[in-house]
Amino acid sequence: MDEKRYYQLAPDLTICRIVNGMWQVAGGHGYIDHKLAIEDMIRYHDAGFTSWDLADIYGPAEDFIGDFRHKLLAPRGKEELNKVQALTKWVPQPRIITRSIVDESIRRSLRRMSVSSLDLLQFHWWDYNNPYYIDALKYLSNLRDKRMIKHLGLTNFDTERMQIMVDSDIQIVSNQVQYSIIDRRPEVKMIPFCIKHNINLLAYGSICGGLMSERYLGKAHQPSTAELDTLSLRKYKKIIDVWGGWNLFQELLSTLKSIAQKYDVSIANVATRYILDKPAIAGVIIGARLGISDHINNNAQVFNFSLDKSDYDDIEVVCTKSNNLFGTIGDCGDEYR
Ligand SMILES: NC(=O)c1ccc[n+]([C@@H]2O[C@H](COP(=O)([O-])OP(=O)(O)OC[C@H]3O[C@@H](n4cnc5c(N)ncnc54)[C@H](OP(=O)(O)O)[C@@H]3O)[C@@H](O)[C@H]2O)c1
Repeated sequence: MDEKRYYQLAPDLTICRIVNGMWQVAGGHGYIDHKLAIEDMIRYHDAGFTSWDLADIYGPAEDFIGDFRHKLLAPRGKEELNKVQALTKWVPQPRIITRSIVDESIRRSLRRMSVSSLDLLQFHWWDYNNPYYIDALKYLSNLRDKRMIKHLGLTNFDTERMQIMVDSDIQIVSNQVQYSIIDRRPEVKMIPFCIKHNINLLAYGSICGGLMSERYLGKAHQPSTAELDTLSLRKYKKIIDVWGGWNLFQELLSTLKSIAQKYDVSIANVATRYILDKPAIAGVIIGARLGISDHINNNAQVFNFSLDKSDYDDIEVVCTKSNNLFGTIGDCGDEYR
């Protein structure tokens, strides 16, 4: 196994360390053409980007996985399908959760994705004041025992609630959290906790919707709301504002560019490599605007270089001037609550 490119999330689940993110097909990221999107999925797959992150609430994402699998199966056979990992989420509205609600929701995802078992089901819960998330996790664990779900993961849970799960003997493989050079909240509590309990993290927002790239380098003025034409760009621009503002972000981009030039890679590559090398990190999810834009070749560069101590030191010089996001926003996932 090429350890730079792949990661064993569980004994029977190996993923590509750059996971293709499918929030971008859910709306708010430009018009997605179904046919072009599926063709693009095949191209990602053939380039070795075989892992997908999606959710029941990401518009047609689960159906796209189903269609993509059919498109692969017909000419190439079942063996090719075994190379695909589709990591979905269940994001229910907070309410009383019964066994049949969980059962129906998981069956719907299985149907849409055309699989007999979900590789990883990542559970999200909007409201900690509603205690039914523990019931949901117990029912999901039952479905895992029946192999309808291979592995149970989380998304956007904080350390305090994960401690409750560990104390309740609920087996969790991973948590998915926002983690980038500018948002290092996971380092305060989440990463030490995950190391202690052998839980993996999947990071998103690591290139800030594309803001951490040459496209925004040297832009003296911050982009207008109209220029920030995806939900993702708007989401992470707000994080930049809280982190330290546009001028400090420019300083960071210029530091990242110097590092990128040293290795003949891109700013996005450096930002991704930085997170991939952190402890407990299984993979970085990079959003794919299927059929619209394509960074396959560039993102493949992430596997071909390593950062050295002077690179980390240079990044740290800029980051020490930033605000403490853990103090302002809180632990992982608190931005959603
Ligand atoms: N659990 C959660 O609550 C949660 C929240 C957010 C995201 N996610 C997951 O994480 C995924 C990533 O989403 P995100 O919002 O965090 O976006 P992101 O990955 O930070 O940014 C994606 C955008 O970055 C640009 N990009 C990609 N590779 C690039 C490269 N090599 N050079 C320059 N630009 C590059 C592309 O922009 P262009 O298309 O404009 O070129 C792409 O659309 C989502 O799809 C989803 O699966 C999960």
